[in-house]
Amino acid sequence: MSIIYNESKKTYTLLTAETAYQMKVSEYGYLLHLYYGRRVEDEDLSYLIQLQDRGFSPCPNELGNDRTFSLDFLPQEFSTDGNCDYRTGSIEVENGDGSRIFVGKVLKHKIYDGKYQIHGMPSLHAGENDTVQTLEIWLQDEVSRVTAVLCYSVFEEKNIITRTVRVENSGDHPVKLKGIMSVTLDFMDSGYDFIHFDGRHMMERELTRQPVAYGIQSIGSIRGSSSHQHNPFAILCESGAGEDWGGCYGFSLVYSGNFICSVEKDQFDQTRLNMGIHPKHFSFLLKPGDVFEAPEAVMAYSDRGLTHLSHLYHDAYRENLCRSPWASRIRPVVINSWEAAYFDFDDEKLLNIAREAADMGVDLFVLDDGWFGKRDDDCSSLGDWQEDTQKLKHGLKGLSDEIHRMGLQFGLWIEPEMVSEDSDLYRSHPDWCLHVPKRPVSRGRYQLVLDLSRKDVCDHIIQSINNILDNVQIEYIKWDMNRNITETWSAASEKERQGEIYHRYILGLYYIMDHTILTHPDILFCGCSGGGGRYDPAMLYYQPQIWCSDDTDAVCRLKIQYGTSFAYPISTLESHVSVCPNHQTMRTVPLATRGVVAMDGIFGFELDSTKLSKEEKDACRIQSETYKKYYPIIADGDYYRLTDPFQFTEYTAWQHVTKDRTESLFSLVLTEKEPNDAQRYIRLKGLDPKAWYEIGGLPGRFSGSLLMNAGLPVPGSLGQYSSVQYHIQMISGGKR
Ligand code: DGJ
Repeated sequence: MSIIYNESKKTYTLLTAETAYQMKVSEYGYLLHLYYGRRVEDEDLSYLIQLQDRGFSPCPNELGNDRTFSLDFLPQEFSTDGNCDYRTGSIEVENGDGSRIFVGKVLKHKIYDGKYQIHGMPSLHAGENDTVQTLEIWLQDEVSRVTAVLCYSVFEEKNIITRTVRVENSGDHPVKLKGIMSVTLDFMDSGYDFIHFDGRHMMERELTRQPVAYGIQSIGSIRGSSSHQHNPFAILCESGAGEDWGGCYGFSLVYSGNFICSVEKDQFDQTRLNMGIHPKHFSFLLKPGDVFEAPEAVMAYSDRGLTHLSHLYHDAYRENLCRSPWASRIRPVVINSWEAAYFDFDDEKLLNIAREAADMGVDLFVLDDGWFGKRDDDCSSLGDWQEDTQKLKHGLKGLSDEIHRMGLQFGLWIEPEMVSEDSDLYRSHPDWCLHVPKRPVSRGRYQLVLDLSRKDVCDHIIQSINNILDNVQIEYIKWDMNRNITETWSAASEKERQGEIYHRYILGLYYIMDHTILTHPDILFCGCSGGGGRYDPAMLYYQPQIWCSDDTDAVCRLKIQYGTSFAYPISTLESHVSVCPNHQTMRTVPLATRGVVAMDGIFGFELDSTKLSKEEKDACRIQSETYKKYYPIIADGDYYRLTDPFQFTEYTAWQHVTKDRTESLFSLVLTEKEPNDAQRYIRLKGLDPKAWYEIGGLPGRFSGSLLMNAGLPVPGSLGQYSSVQYHIQMISGGKR
């Protein structure tokens, strides 16, 4: 039993193999949060709550003269709003009478086997070998009869709890939902560090760690997408917790739109975390009987540091998230035309690139931007998804056929959510983009955003994409999205529903993906938004891999891939070897190092293969072969970050280890070379301490214990930006 309701104590206890989570219905019907952490058995933890009469902490009216039960300091599972709790709230509702108050009390609950469903939005599913149980608790405001149904699915073996909230208007008047969090988590103590992943275009997911201070700290996005700037994943950990030590809580939102994650340390040194849709520019009209479903939040707890926390997310996101059969298939090595040709190509140039690539171990050629309309630069043609026959004399079909004749597969770039003003689509439907009447529309990369809150627009997009997918032999699609949303207003919605447009855009996007991606399970889809501007679990539900960043510089990628690895499995992270000097930084890094870094992900190429020397092409072919050989270790193994590139600048090292600990791939890139420098040693992780291992390229054999405790010397011969990659293999029957 993962979920236990104790009738006499009125406690709900959610148990996974390693964690426990407890709530209790207080005598006044409020739902209090008692515990989340390392597994304890089903005991009543309410002794932790110490009631006190505290000044300036009002108490609910029904308490009479009892001045000790204030929601101003009690840990709540889902906060009330507008009565006694002044902390950041779980919900904000404008009731029919204009009041802004929600006082939810427990009405009933339901426990069942399996996972709850969310309609129209991605969420995790139970795998064949998972034990999953669900608890739903109804909290109702007695006056407005607005009801928040808190849903929890407990993945017992995975040590994951997913949550969502359904807000139902069970009253007689329309209400406006102004804010709703998918998760509120109260801690009765403080002393946590808040870890989040920030950045910008071409430098995504840089780790930031700060102690939680008095007041409110928050990250989020109001750009209409999960964004390059902040990722919808955050960690609260014990101050000082590291990769292998300390209690760490993870929070991940399965959503691609505006989000917020806030942490508050209150006057009594307690901590509250909230995560959900960003309330700015959000409101949702709920007529009597209407229901609003919040996106799913995925929580995990590790009692032994950040590495284990990452492994919990990696396992769940590899096995319980993506609906594509490609999630568990070996991915092809691709060569992408973007940095090779940009907008300047014709059939001949593309075929030459593909022909040379075939000798480099490449499986699939991807034609990036520039193939449609009159798109010779980024100023036009988005929305006109017909091939430019000036460039492709025999059309897409002709090109695809020719590529297939070379023994390669064919992939294509699309950006379906956008429209160029200079396009036939815009000329015939100027009201199909998001815009505010009488105001000019802001441009981003000369393009406008289609209004995906409209079903007619979504259906048009579905038809144009499916027209390509069904008529050309295509094995791979790169789905891009290259600007953030502005002027968020829809010509198809009434005035009081304009606050719904950001969310309805995302629902429209999921609707399109349901009817294009999910209806073409054999096509491998790669997500992209100017690189990693929409690297979130909801995109991974549809697309098993994401182009991690538009920055292909191998040294920058060390940080980007490091940050990405905290929540997202390596099997989701697309990484390519590009040309040097690098197009983003002008830096030159040895080809071997570019290969080692690209193998820390789904490997491919982003260069003009016709410009490589024979030696370079041979080296690329060996890289493809090496990658394919080690694919199961990289994609399915456990990931260990051995250094933190933000704190330690001399070198960056990491390790992939198979689940059975028989094989590992160790990689290291030297990032800051000094003359006559100190000898460094690096301790490996994840091996069997009692087993013997051989290391490819090094003489002798080593025990796992030795490698993990004494470590390996970092070779002194390495120059700036050079690298090592060791394949580590348990010797058969290698137990000591
Ligand atoms: C942004 C992507 O991240 C690039 O890889 C490339 O596809 C361009 N868009 C094309 O416009």
